[in-house]
Amino acid sequence: MTPTARRAMHALHRADIYAGFSPLRPLDLQGWNGRHPALARVVAEVRPQLAIDVGVWKGESAATLAQAMRAARPDSALIAVDTFLGSPEHWNPDRPDRIMDSLGLTHGWPGLYWQFLSNVAHLGLQDMVVPLPQTSENAAVILRRAGFRPDLVHVDAAHEYEPVLRDIRLFWDLLRPGGLLIGDDHPWPGVKQAVAEFATATGLTPEIEEPKWIFRKPA
Ligand SMILES: C[S@@+](CC[C@H](N)C(=O)[O-])C[C@H]1O[C@@H](n2cnc3c(N)ncnc32)[C@H](O)[C@@H]1O
Repeated sequence: MTPTARRAMHALHRADIYAGFSPLRPLDLQGWNGRHPALARVVAEVRPQLAIDVGVWKGESAATLAQAMRAARPDSALIAVDTFLGSPEHWNPDRPDRIMDSLGLTHGWPGLYWQFLSNVAHLGLQDMVVPLPQTSENAAVILRRAGFRPDLVHVDAAHEYEPVLRDIRLFWDLLRPGGLLIGDDHPWPGVKQAVAEFATATGLTPEIEEPKWIFRKPA
């Protein structure tokens, strides 16, 4: 485990959560925009020691970030925040694409965490990915209390206006000065509104690389 991951694992779990774990499910990285080139590019630019992925689903964006981070800075770690319960758009049995099947429900409870953890193990990323199975709101409190100041944050959890704006504000506060916040799904009306409102409030201009959006925190 990288030194940064060891510190995060200890601070958040007081145990190696991978100890004794073997993948329970085959590799399945179905997701959305998790391989977008902006992710690896911002990692190469920032060379983060610590990054946080907020909203990881099965782990595609987390894997892209972690693999780029390993290449840029071998001592780095990624904290992966998710309830692993899915979002309102996933809990929709009427969707023709049957996305609800992807939740992997067992007696009504999603299996996303086990898929995520299995994927991390299949990809050999246990040494740098530290899951935090929490709401983004609680995670921000937990991470602040533990003293984390990430260099990079990727926000891709809820897509409704209020929770997106809340996530941007919470993780912007956590981000170290000079750090970079990147988010997904700018075309969603709630995301677009939250990004625009945050830009107005801070006087910052977001870089839009659809569907990604980027804010750089002044040093
Ligand atoms: C669009 S998916 C993330 C996709 C992922 N980044 C990828 O690469 O495919 C959104 C995720 O955010 C999580 N989520 C939604 N609201 C959340 C919240 N308030 N706190 C934590 N996770 C949340 C859901 O469980 C879901 O896994």
